[in-house]
Amino acid sequence: MSSQKPTVLPSPPIEIDRRAFFAKIGLGSLGIAAVGTAGFAYQFLSPNVLYEPSPIINVGKPENFAVDSVTLDANAGIYLVRAAEGFFALNAICTHLGCLTAWNQELGIIACPCHGSKFKRDGEKIEGPAPKPLPWLKTWVSDEGDLMVDRSTDIHPMQYLRI
Ligand code: FES
Repeated sequence: MSSQKPTVLPSPPIEIDRRAFFAKIGLGSLGIAAVGTAGFAYQFLSPNVLYEPSPIINVGKPENFAVDSVTLDANAGIYLVRAAEGFFALNAICTHLGCLTAWNQELGIIACPCHGSKFKRDGEKIEGPAPKPLPWLKTWVSDEGDLMVDRSTDIHPMQYLRI
């Protein structure tokens, strides 16, 4: 029994001439430029849309809110107030530097924890550095009977929603 190793022949060197080399470099460059151009064209033609949560908030059925109640929806940044005159919604974001305010049931005021601004239940400023009252927000009842608040639309104060 003979142990012969298979002989591996060296492969001949791949010959590439100068013209073919530069042709491949040129085609590669064109391909890269085409991909880049297509990327920019897609970005340019795509609508420049910012996807944000809807400013319309469904706060639920009116009967869920007792008369003379102030309910903070911290996620939405709004107060839903049910007064004897009717419903209204306030923006709960302080008009000073944008902190979320809090309802103080004992004192009957809305207070900002950041720099001490205080507001009445109807949003009117009592004291502190806030330059403006808390804005009233557009409020209505949907066809399904739910209270709706539009955080993006301020209204004049004292426009109660009577149901
Ligand atoms: S952010 Fe409310 S008082 Fe400054």
